[in-house]
Amino acid sequence: MDFKTSNAEGPVEFVNVFDLEKMAQKVVPKGAFGYIASGAGDTFTLHENIRSFNHKLIVPHSLKGVEDPSTEVVYDGDTLTSPIIMAPVAAHKLANEQGELASAKGVSEFGTIFTTSSYATTDIPEITQSLNGTPQWFQFYYSKDDGINRHIMDRVKEQGVKAIVLTADATVGGNREVDKRNGFVFPVGMPIVQEYLPDGAGKTMDFVYRSAKQALSAKDVEYIAQYSGLPVYVKGPQCAEDVFRALNAGASGIWVTNHGGRQLDGGPAAFDSLQEVAEAVDRRVPIVFDSGVRRGQHVFKALASGADLVALGRPVIYGLALGGSVGTRQVFEKINEELKMVMQLAGTQTIEDVKHFKLRHNPYDPAMPFNPDALKLD
Ligand code: FNR
Ligand code: LAC
Repeated sequence: MDFKTSNAEGPVEFVNVFDLEKMAQKVVPKGAFGYIASGAGDTFTLHENIRSFNHKLIVPHSLKGVEDPSTEVVYDGDTLTSPIIMAPVAAHKLANEQGELASAKGVSEFGTIFTTSSYATTDIPEITQSLNGTPQWFQFYYSKDDGINRHIMDRVKEQGVKAIVLTADATVGGNREVDKRNGFVFPVGMPIVQEYLPDGAGKTMDFVYRSAKQALSAKDVEYIAQYSGLPVYVKGPQCAEDVFRALNAGASGIWVTNHGGRQLDGGPAAFDSLQEVAEAVDRRVPIVFDSGVRRGQHVFKALASGADLVALGRPVIYGLALGGSVGTRQVFEKINEELKMVMQLAGTQTIEDVKHFKLRHNPYDPAMPFNPDALKLD
């Protein structure tokens, strides 16, 4: 494989995770960086994701006797350092030659759930080893071919994955114009794709999506749950109707996302959909939230709006590019430190307290810049 990218491993100096994007751009080749950082179409939804957290406000609380808040949670029998988890992201070897081996190690050292993508660039048994007992979920890109689907489920079950995350919002690839301009194809191997789609020369996004089942339906959720015997999280519902379809089909969890603004441009910010989804779920199953989370206050707001777990995508991949397993861990630590500070100032001692916290609606149109760079005075 002649693709060269970063092979950094070690501590990264940064003040907040916004800093990492520009730093990573310098160490990751242009096509790969474009694929990671960009979104679909006009990137309206990508930008709305971050901006939308300003639609709700955290009123600080005082005299509540809070000291050294704890972000620890017990989830599905596992004690996690924090409700912040790793989202499924394809091809970690685009960002760092150590790929998923390094990111899984970093996530394991932090102590949270790692979601392995169907398009991982490292074989799943090696990821499992690197995770060293840390819970692993498997993100499923469902194929048109049931034989392939069963085979993949058998393989991931052997690895002891604790849940299957069925991605439902990517039955075709989004309109990634940056990739078109850069002529981007996956230059690195993806074992699952290679094993099952051996004639996939070039491995463009179009190619991988051609194997995907477009007519994904509630029946597929039922089948995965029944065949695998594992909890199935459906990744994609953004409204009550879709929640009901997923729950009626036996989903064990709902993952609210817009795929980080990479799929349907012109759709709502994921955070703006969270409340409707949470009301529809009505605490019957857990909710995972992602898309645009860059700050501890974003995590706090998502938890206070109904999420049980909050996932990170791009920031972790930038940390991986800049510092391998250590950089990966630092991204989780940074956002978690911010979360702890927000918890202290908001008068919340535990994550349970955060989940019961009442946010205030922002009465103004918060047309705030979402990137702190825009606030710099120099
Ligand atoms: C993704 N995402 C994703 N989702 C999924 O279900 N399977 C996948 O293979 C991928 N691959 C992928 C690659 C890259 C480069 C990115 C940035 C994202 C979406 C991911 O799980 C998550 O929904 C978003 O990344 C969340 O948004 P933020 O945190 O990146 O803003
Ligand atoms: C992406 C796919 C792989 O977002 O989910 O690029």
